[in-house]
Order: sequence, then structure tokens, then C-alpha cells
Amino acid sequence: MSTVLEATFGPRLTGSRSGPFSGFIGVPGDKSMSHRALIFGGLANGLTRIRGLLEGDDVLRTADAVRALGAQVERADSGEWTVRGAEWQAPAEPIDCANSGTGARLLMGAVAGFPIDVTFTGDASLSGRPMERVLGPLRSMGARTEGSTLPVTIRGGRLHGMHFVNEKASAQVKSAILLAGLRAEGDVVVIEPRLSRDHTENMLRAFGCDVTSEDGVISLGERRSLTATDVAIPGDPSSAAFPIVASLIVPGSQVTVRNVMVNPLRAGLFTTLQEMGADLRFVDERREGGEPVADIVATASALRGVEVPASRAPSMIDEYPILAVAAAFAQGRTVMRGLSELRVKESDRLAAVIAGLQACGVDAWDEGDDLIVEGLGGPPRGGADVQAHHDHRIAMSFLVMGLAAQKAVTVDSADMIATSFPDFTPLMRSIGGSIQ
Ligand code: S3P
Repeated sequence: MSTVLEATFGPRLTGSRSGPFSGFIGVPGDKSMSHRALIFGGLANGLTRIRGLLEGDDVLRTADAVRALGAQVERADSGEWTVRGAEWQAPAEPIDCANSGTGARLLMGAVAGFPIDVTFTGDASLSGRPMERVLGPLRSMGARTEGSTLPVTIRGGRLHGMHFVNEKASAQVKSAILLAGLRAEGDVVVIEPRLSRDHTENMLRAFGCDVTSEDGVISLGERRSLTATDVAIPGDPSSAAFPIVASLIVPGSQVTVRNVMVNPLRAGLFTTLQEMGADLRFVDERREGGEPVADIVATASALRGVEVPASRAPSMIDEYPILAVAAAFAQGRTVMRGLSELRVKESDRLAAVIAGLQACGVDAWDEGDDLIVEGLGGPPRGGADVQAHHDHRIAMSFLVMGLAAQKAVTVDSADMIATSFPDFTPLMRSIGGSIQ
């Protein structure tokens, strides 16, 4: 029976009160950069060498996709990959992106510039997520598309330019348009009222492409061909968030997470935690792989509730579940504004976070697109069975809750943690966390 349940719902994991946490750890390579390095390498002339690639399920699907489209993709060692780019060809089978929205949406943009038909599929979660936000702009550039949720077929070919206003501040949508634009005739301009993560622009430049960005206006220039380069991928701030928050909320803890990418367009969680009173120190700030990087020292702190403005959401969009856990330990109310996009992530994260917090004895609710958490000024009761809805970040957030709450917290489906942070459990154990 339990095997059948596990096959259907994935393994259950329980986080139990533990710590104080201590140690020096590294987290896996940034997921956004890992997808991009493989895709750009697959489009470039020559051999791209990648160091620090995240070998999580989402990124491995993108590696398979780029290979199926005609590039040579090889793993030399842990995190070390090479990609020899090619003129992309129609793959023999549909491209299965499994759980990965980033993989699906970026690849859709990239294939649209080739005269090939490509069908994309995914798992149940990805098949329910909106794709029209990418397909609409691609059609405006001249691609033909079928389906508005997966399975989706892109019939690519001769594209023309476009001006697009990125109202949702989605880096995936921006990136799909820029990737399609590499093979389009004419101006390709994305206008961003609120800036989204800029790894695509940074990495396109590193591959020799002419991209300008100024005051939220991103334009492709004349030179749109890519030349292979070496890419070093620093640690993922969205993964570093879990040991960092665990260290802040368990008294007596101090953990250093080495080599974390701290691009300001990804650092909203760190800013917010500091406003809440967190003792976070950024040590040895430097640049790696074209991105700012630092070692982050997190020391247990008494947190207080804050208001997080909607304008900050793009810079911490994946971090609200773990911020909500931190907010439950803080003194006073935390209000997080403008979270409509959380409803269309790997799960409806707004609903999943509220249900999980309530199950753990924390008062939390939504008002329109805002999330409100009534902090307890100490450890919540916990002692709950939380539904993770097959969402990696919900599972990891509530395991961290369990490490610090009064009673253990179990998540029902921890299997998807492997999509972004395969070593989450051993790494949390290595700093003193009890996860079984
Ligand atoms: C990503 C962009 C974000 C983020 C996702 C990764 C990217 O999604 O949630 O995990 O790599 O471009 P949106 O573009 O939908 O905001």
C-alpha cells in the first residue's frame, strides 16, 4: 500500500525541531542561469563549457531538449557540461519539459526562430499552467502555434520584430521573445514597467550578442548570432533561501552559504529579511559568471513583521513561501502585496502557503492578491501534515517550518524537491537539521 501511495504522491518527509544550525555550505547552481547556459550553448557557434550547472530534474530536461534539437550536450563531471551548438532540427519526439515552466517557455521562444515544428509536453502541473503569455507574442512575431496549455506545438520560421510591454514582469516571457528575436528581422524591444531578472540579457552579451537595456527598455541590436563561451554558474539564491531562513529562526544558529548569486533583481528576499531585523552579512562580494556573488552569513535573529511592496515581487517571486514561514516566527503582522503570479506557479502557492500555515497553527489569509501572516514572535505549534501539491518550494518551506516549530511537520510529496535542489535533505542535515 505505501509503495502505491509513494508512487502516486511521492515520498513523505518530516522536519523535526533541531539545531542550532551551524556550518559552511554551498548550494547548487542557479536554476535560471543553468537553463539559459544550455539553451544559449545549443544555439551558439562552437563549444560552450559550463561549470556549476544545477543537475536538478528541470535542468536535465532542458539538456535533453537541447540535445534532441540537434546540439551536442555532454556531461564531463559533476556540474561540468559542454554544449556544441547547431542549426536546430525538428526532434523525433515531442519535447517533455516535465515540471519546468522556465524550460518550456524559453525553449518555445528559441525554437520559434527555426523553420521547424516542435511539440512540447509536460507533467500535470505544467500542463495546467498558462502558456498563452508566451504564445501570443510569438504569434505576433510570425510563429504559428497550436494549443494554449501543453501540449503546445510551435511552427516556427521567418519572424519579424516586435515591441512588447512585459506587464507581468515575467523574465520567462521576456526571454522567450529575446530568444525568438535572435532570428527575427527588425527591431525586438521589450519594455518593462517593473524590472524582471536579467540573466538572459547578461548571458546573451557574454555570448557576443548585441543587447542594450536602459530604464526598463531592452533591445536587441544588429549582432544577434551567438559565439560559444565559458559560463560559470554561481549558487542559486532561491535555494540558499532555505538554509538561511532556517538559521535565522532557530536560536543560536549561524550558517555561511558560500558563493551565492546576489544579483539585485533576485535579492528581494534578503532585503526583506534585513528589514525584518535579520542579521545577514554579505562577505567577499565579487563577480562570477557575469553576476555579483557573495558568501552570506546568517545568524539567528528576532524578526519583526513588515510590509513588502508589490514593486519588490519580481525580485523575490519564488521566495514568498519561505518568507511566509519566516513571517510566522516574526513578531507582528507581515503583509506581502501583489502576489497574483503566485497562483500560476508549480502550484497555487498562495493557497498552498495559507493552508500549510493554518495547519501549523498560524493565522494567515489572502486579501485580493495580498498575503497576510500574523507572526507569533516565536515558534508556531507545527505538528501538521502539510500538502505540498507536488511543489518543490512548498515542500522545502514547510520542512524548514518543521525544523523550527514546536512539533514536527510532515509534507506529503517531497519528490519534486529534486527539480531544483536535489541535495536539499543531506545539506540541511549537514548543518544539523533533522529531516526523515
Ligand atoms: C524564471 C522566472 C520566474 C521564476 C522562475 C524562473 C526564469 O518566472 O518564477 O522560477 O528563469 O526566468 P516568471 O517569468 O513567470 O515570473
